[in-house]
Amino acid sequence: MKLNALYKKALKEHFAIGAFNFNNLETLKAIVDACLAASTPALVCVSEGAFSYMGEACIGMFRAEKKRYKDIFLHLDHGKSFEMCKKAIDLGFDSVMIDASSLSFEKNVALTKKVVDYAHARGVWVEAELGVIGGTEDLVSAKKAIFTDAEEAKKFISLAKADSLAVAIGTSHGAYKFSGESKLNFKRLGEIEKAIPKTPLVLHGASSVPEKYVELLNAYGGDLKGAKGVDEKSLKTACTRHNICKINSDTDLRIAFTAGVREHLLKNPENFDPRKYLSQGKKYVTEAVLEKFRYLSK
Ligand code: G3H
Ligand code: 13P
Ligand code: ZN
Repeated sequence: MKLNALYKKALKEHFAIGAFNFNNLETLKAIVDACLAASTPALVCVSEGAFSYMGEACIGMFRAEKKRYKDIFLHLDHGKSFEMCKKAIDLGFDSVMIDASSLSFEKNVALTKKVVDYAHARGVWVEAELGVIGGTEDLVSAKKAIFTDAEEAKKFISLAKADSLAVAIGTSHGAYKFSGESKLNFKRLGEIEKAIPKTPLVLHGASSVPEKYVELLNAYGGDLKGAKGVDEKSLKTACTRHNICKINSDTDLRIAFTAGVREHLLKNPENFDPRKYLSQGKKYVTEAVLEKFRYLSK
C-alpha cells in the first residue's frame, strides 16, 4: 500500500497509523517484528538527533527491514530546516515533518510551503505543526504548550498545503506529561477537525508511559519516579472517534528497551555480550508496540 492511500483510509475509517521512533538497529527490528506479528503498517521515524546518531546507516537498515515487511514507511521526525528535510527527501524518506512551530505564523507557512513544493515534486508526504507541543527530549523542546487554534489551522493548510498537521491539544514530549490527571482537549480537537475535515491530524507526545515498564525499569536500578503518560482510553478516543490518523511514540519504546537491558544486566552480571542484553530490550519494545496497536483502531 502507498502512504497517501494509507492516510486516506485512516481518515475515512477512523484509525491511526502508529509512528515509532528508532535510534538503533534493535529498536527498528523490534518495531518491524511487531508489524509482522500483527500485520499492521507503521511509520518508523528518525529525529534529527537520531539521524546524527545513526547517520545514513539508518537508510540501509530501513531498506533491509522493508524487505521483511513492505508496509513500513521512513519518516523524518521534527525536521527543523529546509536543508534537513531536503536531505531526507534526497536520501529516499517517504515522509518528512517540517516543524516550524516555534516561528511566527507567517514564517511557519513560508518554510512549510517551501518544503511542500520540494517534497510534492518528488512524491513525498509532508507533515507540519501548528501550536506548541510541550515537553523536552534531546533536540525537541518547548517550555510552554500553546493549543492549536482552529481558524489558524484552516488558514495554515490553505496557504502551506501540508498533507497532515500535528496539533497541540494537551500532549507533550517525554516521560513526565502530567503532574495530575491525564487530560486532552477534545473540544479543541473537534473544532480543528471541523475547520480542516480533509486533513489527517497527528498526535505527538502520545506515549502512555505504561506502568509495567516503568516498574521494571525502576526495579532494576532505574529512577523514573512520577513518570506519567497519556491514558490509553483518551488515545483510543483520539484515534477512533476523531481525525487523529498518526500517533507518535518514542518515550514508551525507550523505557521498554532500557527496562529490558537493565533487567538482563542485573540478572546476568557475568554477561558481556551486547547481543544478549540488547535482545531483552528488543523483546520488550516489540511487546510495547503490539500493546499500542490495540488502541490505534476499533
Ligand atoms: O519528538 C521528539 C522525539 O521523541 C525525538 O526525540 O530529539 O531526543 O531524538 P530526540
Ligand atoms: P513521546 O515522548 O510521547 O513518545 O512522543 C514522541 C514524539 O512525539 C515524537 O515526535
Ligand atoms: Zn514529536
